[in-house]
Amino acid sequence: MGFGTGLNALLTAREAQANRHHVVYSAIDAYPMPIEQARQLNYDEFFDTAYLPVLHESPWEKPIALNPYFTLIKHEGKLQDLQTTNRFHVIYFDAFAPSAQPELWEPEIFSQLAHLLLPGGMLTTYCSKSYVQRNMRAAGLTVEKHNGPLHKRDVLRAVKPVE
Ligand SMILES: C[S@@+](CC[C@H](N)C(=O)[O-])C[C@H]1O[C@@H](n2cnc3c(N)ncnc32)[C@H](O)[C@@H]1O
Repeated sequence: MGFGTGLNALLTAREAQANRHHVVYSAIDAYPMPIEQARQLNYDEFFDTAYLPVLHESPWEKPIALNPYFTLIKHEGKLQDLQTTNRFHVIYFDAFAPSAQPELWEPEIFSQLAHLLLPGGMLTTYCSKSYVQRNMRAAGLTVEKHNGPLHKRDVLRAVKPVE
């Protein structure tokens, strides 16, 4: 959730290829980044990939293979309005912070996301605030705290129990 600059998608495409693990990646963004801005990103130089043009210039709502192991489907719209019968192994929940978009960290959103997860599936996010953890638990998810990268002390992983 939150396609943004496409960094999560790019890194997952790279890992899928390196590990020969098939991934179908659905991305959603309500306010896609303008292509002129995306063209200024340096991720391909930085990560030694060649994904940026296709990540940003491929059509929305259409499956696109970035490599033999990774297929991307971008959906333009608000998470709150998402209608899908798909269920997911992993959700990267990369909304802007609760201070900027409190409505995306409410119990209803985590119930919606829990419903979208397969049993045993997991949601990850950088935000570890206690009320966010509480809202995840209220949605029936099991919350784990993990060490974050660099200067980020904690990140969260919320797992949907297997019935
Ligand atoms: C923190 S950024 C995501 C960064 C992104 N993961 C990346 O790799 O660059 C949050 C994103 O959520 C999008 N967004 C904000 N409100 C949204 C909503 N209600 N539904 C879906 N996407 C939304 C914004 O347009 C923005 O791109």
